[in-house]
Amino acid sequence: MKDKLEAILKSATEEINNAVSVVDLDNVKLKYLSRKGELNSIKKNLKDMSDEDKRIIGSMANNVSNELEKLIDEKNSQLYKIELDKKLQSEKIDITLPSDFRPQGHVHPLTQTINEIVEIFQGLGFSVMPSEYSPEVETEYINFDMLNFPPNHPAKDMQDTFYTKVAPNVILRSQTSGAQIRQMLNQSPPVRVISPGRVYRCESVSARKNNLFHQIEGLLVDKDITFADLKGILNEFVRLYFGSSRPTRFRASYFPFTEPSAEVDVQCIMCGGKGCRTCSNTGWLEVLGAGMVHVNVLKNVGIDPEIYSGFAFGMGVERLAMLKYAINDIRLFFNNDVRFLKQF
Ligand code: PHE
Repeated sequence: MKDKLEAILKSATEEINNAVSVVDLDNVKLKYLSRKGELNSIKKNLKDMSDEDKRIIGSMANNVSNELEKLIDEKNSQLYKIELDKKLQSEKIDITLPSDFRPQGHVHPLTQTINEIVEIFQGLGFSVMPSEYSPEVETEYINFDMLNFPPNHPAKDMQDTFYTKVAPNVILRSQTSGAQIRQMLNQSPPVRVISPGRVYRCESVSARKNNLFHQIEGLLVDKDITFADLKGILNEFVRLYFGSSRPTRFRASYFPFTEPSAEVDVQCIMCGGKGCRTCSNTGWLEVLGAGMVHVNVLKNVGIDPEIYSGFAFGMGVERLAMLKYAINDIRLFFNNDVRFLKQF
């Protein structure tokens, strides 16, 4: 037995020394020290021995197993360190490399402008119309007829319209004013709403014109509404949007669905009113059309013009953004050049 224990100690020590990985070491441990290992099989035989042998062989077996445990632990920490070093070498990360930088995007300048204008009107008591009242694919009936454009009247030529092949008289809306009709058909006065959206016109594209652009329609109908209310609201809007320093003027105009009608000009931001290319030397830039809702329009939607009156306005979002930020080409909004977009 003694010889056998010595042999175990010798061969196990050798195997421990030869182990090159933690896995090797685990196998050695299993072979000699586990419940079914070689040392344990000797310990099992102890019960058949004399008391004397039990004592000697027993303590010797314990010494051997303690010794082996100690060797295995030492070797284990050595191997662990070596393997860790290897791992650190192979999985090294160079933290000085430049990172994969992804700039954060932001809201498009036109959307920012729309949000800003919507907020101003919300502050003035207007709410945003449900979007189903203002589809971009619209009928001529809503876009023109209900708005008091006489059939085949040349006034339709004011807005060069895109016709579709979906059905006769189905168009891409040329203005957001149709939303007024849907709103008034769905809600009786008092009405106090705005409706932002895209409109389309068949025009040649230039620095000042694009065939897709954005408008914000406004509509207020109630008892005792006068042109003074319209002027007050629009002046307040201009003051809040541009700041109080910007002069405006109301100019008499014509729209089939408003009477009287006006256009509002804002002093040119480029030249401060002296006259330049942007304002065609007039010193003024038109930003919106407006007027008192025409009696015929009120009748078309079943509102009694003897009881109610109202005003409407439609403003060009691109125009307003260009004026505020001194942008001289409307196409910049649609080219999606990040060098332009990231300035906002
Ligand atoms: N819809 C008109 C346009 O596109 C603007 C407008 C809206 C005028 C509401 C009067 C009232 O030119």
